[in-house]
Amino acid sequence: MSVKQLSISPSILASDFAHASDALKQISDSGCDYVHLDVMDGHFVPQITFGSKFIKDLKKESDLVFDTHLMIDKPEEKIESFIDAGADIITFHAEATNHIERCISMIKNSGVSAGIAINPGTSVSAIEAVLDEVDYVLVMTVNPGWGGQKFIPQTIKKIKELDLRRNDEGYNYIIEVDGGINKDNIKMLYDAGVSLAVMGTSFFREDDKESFVDEILEIIDESNYSNS
Ligand code: DX5
Ligand code: ZN
Repeated sequence: MSVKQLSISPSILASDFAHASDALKQISDSGCDYVHLDVMDGHFVPQITFGSKFIKDLKKESDLVFDTHLMIDKPEEKIESFIDAGADIITFHAEATNHIERCISMIKNSGVSAGIAINPGTSVSAIEAVLDEVDYVLVMTVNPGWGGQKFIPQTIKKIKELDLRRNDEGYNYIIEVDGGINKDNIKMLYDAGVSLAVMGTSFFREDDKESFVDEILEIIDESNYSNS
């Protein structure tokens, strides 16, 4: 059995947007390869954050993998602008569109990785038809819209279901989790099949981010040993 890997995708939502390029540098310096970009439109979720121009400008500053999380209604109307901005992964919500398959095709036909996200109240069955097409399944572990919320433990059942289906059907998606992820729950999530973990508050509140990342990876290592 191959040893699983975990990557952390720090969310700049928990950073100071006035110094966003510094936040990207902090992420790279900590040893992470991904940055999570939370796009909120004030409709799908109440808050408004930033759009494709902000991402396009940041992309010039960084080699990180731009993990773009669209919390917007009708993503099909905006996906092109995020492709143009240089997003490496575009994840949209199953609840936000009647055109899930079209959105995935738009993203993948442009050579960008496609992710589908589900809210805590949405079942895996809602995305069943596209599990063979997506590169990422993002399981929201809080209700979307705000950073700093508490992890909802009931979501673990869906993660296990997605892991099982991936094994049974030979699907290739990466399971990503987002919301309330920290040192206390990462081992359980990793063991359930997660290999990409968004961390906003837990990452940016640390002064020594590199040690924080090392500590997370040590927790995961223990998990590998205990499984062998
Ligand atoms: C919530 C966003 C998350 C958020 C996570 O709607 O999608 O990406 O930044 O923040 P934490 O890690 O603080 O829960
Ligand atoms: Zn997010």
